[in-house]
Amino acid sequence: MDIVSLSKGVPEMAINGDEPPPPPYVFNKQSIFGSIDVSPPYGPFPVIDISLFSPPSSSADVHNELEKLRSALISARCFQVIGHGISSSFLDKVRELGKQFFELPMEEKQKYARPTNQVEGYGSNMIVSENQVLDWSDRLSLSVFPEDTRNFHYWPQNPSGFREMLNEYAKEVKSVEQTLYKAIAKSLNLEENSFLKMVGERAPVRARFNFYPRCSRPDLVLGVKPHSDTGGITILLQDKDVEGLQVRIDGNWFKIAIIPDALVINLGDQMQIMSNGIFKSPLHRVVTNPEKLRMSVAVVSEAEVDKEIGAVDELVNEERPRLYKNVKNFGAVVYESYQKEQIALDTITA
Ligand code: OGA
Ligand code: NI
Repeated sequence: MDIVSLSKGVPEMAINGDEPPPPPYVFNKQSIFGSIDVSPPYGPFPVIDISLFSPPSSSADVHNELEKLRSALISARCFQVIGHGISSSFLDKVRELGKQFFELPMEEKQKYARPTNQVEGYGSNMIVSENQVLDWSDRLSLSVFPEDTRNFHYWPQNPSGFREMLNEYAKEVKSVEQTLYKAIAKSLNLEENSFLKMVGERAPVRARFNFYPRCSRPDLVLGVKPHSDTGGITILLQDKDVEGLQVRIDGNWFKIAIIPDALVINLGDQMQIMSNGIFKSPLHRVVTNPEKLRMSVAVVSEAEVDKEIGAVDELVNEERPRLYKNVKNFGAVVYESYQKEQIALDTITA
């Protein structure tokens, strides 16, 4: 398998029928994260109604929902949110236009191709090491905030309406993200802006459209390998019909159910650092499907690159000493540790 044939991209191979997956995609069954089980049990992931965090909720309702949030983050690691105010029809439109983009001819998609060693644009795997097992997915990654960092030459003009959709969706999701940063702080009895101040007003936010073509061997190939997200909060819109996302809790994999209008929330490594390890970034992966393609949209927020992040002062005490060193540009730490096959958080323990 040479780079030329890989550059065909995953979907083209899948469209060619049910050929066995090329070797670089075959996931090692001996992985420390367990073998692939396409259908483990559903996990205990709670559904949080974030409309309860705004007026006119009673303080008892707010208190209950914050407690539910805190215990969800500690035990289940991951949860879904409803009451976010984004309409069901608009969520369908986001999914539909996303899918339409990936279904365009390769030549059209290549107009937005991600340059080597850059994160923005359309492409499949970013090759960072020789032995890397490849993910069975295509992605379109776009910077959405701060607004003056938008690189419109990567924003598809086809399908029509895509740019307007993303502009609108980014705004909506940003508001959900702000609500969550505040609620998570309040759930720990912190001032509501504790995390927001640390990530900064110009915290970069990226939208990543993920496309998972059919795959003839879900037992051998993953849509996305086990990973934790590296930023603060990830807000994920799942496919409405096809499952695939799994989260690891205490050494076991669990499926995330589809709740059509809900958004799935994952905390990233930076949130683990800022919460002094009280909240952890869960390991998750995506399995493939032999019959149906799947698509999702992840919106990830990170701290400003030049801002030092570390545990919020109030969360460090004698019983709970500081777990991680303060760090700037955590993205670079992640990149380096990936190449050395290390876990990024393990490289910055205090
Ligand atoms: C991701 C991710 C899950 C999914 O984009 O980081 O974990 O369901 N996506 O696509
Ligand atoms: Ni992820």
